[in-house]
Amino acid sequence: MAKSKANNTLSITDNRTGKQYDLPIENDTIKAMDLRQIKVKKDDFGMMSYDPAYSNTASCTSRVTFIDGDKGELMYRGYPIDVLAKKSNFLEVSYLLLNGKLPNKKEFNTFEGNIMNHTMIHENIKKFIDGFRYDAHPMGMLMSTVAALSTFYPESKDIFDEETRKIQIHRLIAKMPTLAAFAYRHSMGMPYAYPDNDLSYAGNFLNMLYKMTELKYKPDPIMEKAIDVLLILHADHEQNCSASAMRNVGSSHPDPYSATAASIAALYGPLHGGANEGVLQMLAEIGHKDNIPKAIKAAKNGEFRLMGFGHRVYKSYDPRATIIKDIAHDVFQVTGKNPYLDIALELERIALEDEYFVKRKLYPNVDFYSGLIYQSMGIPTEMFTVLFAIGRTPGWLAQWKELLLDPERRIARPRQVYLGDKNLKYVPMSKRK
Ligand code: ACO
Repeated sequence: MAKSKANNTLSITDNRTGKQYDLPIENDTIKAMDLRQIKVKKDDFGMMSYDPAYSNTASCTSRVTFIDGDKGELMYRGYPIDVLAKKSNFLEVSYLLLNGKLPNKKEFNTFEGNIMNHTMIHENIKKFIDGFRYDAHPMGMLMSTVAALSTFYPESKDIFDEETRKIQIHRLIAKMPTLAAFAYRHSMGMPYAYPDNDLSYAGNFLNMLYKMTELKYKPDPIMEKAIDVLLILHADHEQNCSASAMRNVGSSHPDPYSATAASIAALYGPLHGGANEGVLQMLAEIGHKDNIPKAIKAAKNGEFRLMGFGHRVYKSYDPRATIIKDIAHDVFQVTGKNPYLDIALELERIALEDEYFVKRKLYPNVDFYSGLIYQSMGIPTEMFTVLFAIGRTPGWLAQWKELLLDPERRIARPRQVYLGDKNLKYVPMSKRK
């Protein structure tokens, strides 16, 4: 039976005053601004909600990505992730995220052509990359060269012009693999390999990473497919830390290169995209299956975090981790088994039986197995988060586009609960103790 409109409210009694307030409920949510009317004295500021780290605060409405963390479900624009990973490709998924529907053949060809036409970077960007130290982290190089793109495309500031917005979106999706691969080649002391637009998006990325003296690079189809699926799995994850960075920074209306650089910075952290790098470091430190109980004990004592385990939203197995486990199997057929796989499987088995992890619903997340695949493909650990960033770019841009077109959009500006001093008397330095 449909609920009557009058029942669709939340009644709050303020026991300080005995007053009752009826707040409208929409989509199982109350508006935090509706709390502001709750006051003790007329000139009070009014009540706010306190939610550090936004654990229970929806900051926007969205139609891009759906996650049910308890059921372990992930959908892009309504399509389950396992279906997309099986049947689609990364550029098709990018189109879907950005436009809200799957492209027909003609739309896909145009989109793919647009992306592949923008894979080259200005030669001066290459000079920036040359300027980095030999041991510069590729995420640092990626973050700063993406920010630098804003200076090459000053028209990108015209963010409310649909056509301008579209071109920058194409450029960003197209140039991320080039910047990433150039950063890699720089750190290896190797000459840059230019894009080959005859290849697929994933195939071209492998070309720019690995091409040596051959005239034409031929990607291994299993590797190409694995990279493509991994990019799909990373393409969006609703309002995570880096997407929120995109929306927060984007809300002040900079060009999308600057906002994407902010997302890359957020992704870099070890609690977010940097975790895949952390997993490999952790597995190397554990070194042998016999050392796992000691590692589990240390994690339970709070001495370290089991990298690749736990998630703010998933309280069951991360559906992406299941798909990644299958890809790992395919890739290891070509590359040989990653020596750390046995440690990872045993770690997972023990953790999933351990009361500490079971009670806290800590399961492997997307990062737990992805690093093993990248490592087997010969991709250095420092590049793992860079691959994540390439995959996440269409998601960030879909979130950015949705933000700009949202009539409720305003500059992001959270409140605080101020607990510090007020109106202190200024003591001159000579008189301070
Ligand atoms: N190892 C050991 N204990 C953990 C772990 C872990 N990986 N993750 C959470 N816990 C414990 C916490 O110590 C805490 O225990 P307590 O209740 O006894 O204090 C409890 O589980 C809840 O943890 P929170 O930190 O409150 O969970 P939160 O939602 O804030 O953090 C996060 C989520 C950051 C992902 C966390 O699980 C973590 O640090 N995991 C390791 C890093 C990682 O894999 N990050 C990748 C996330 S996926 C992604 O970004 C693509």
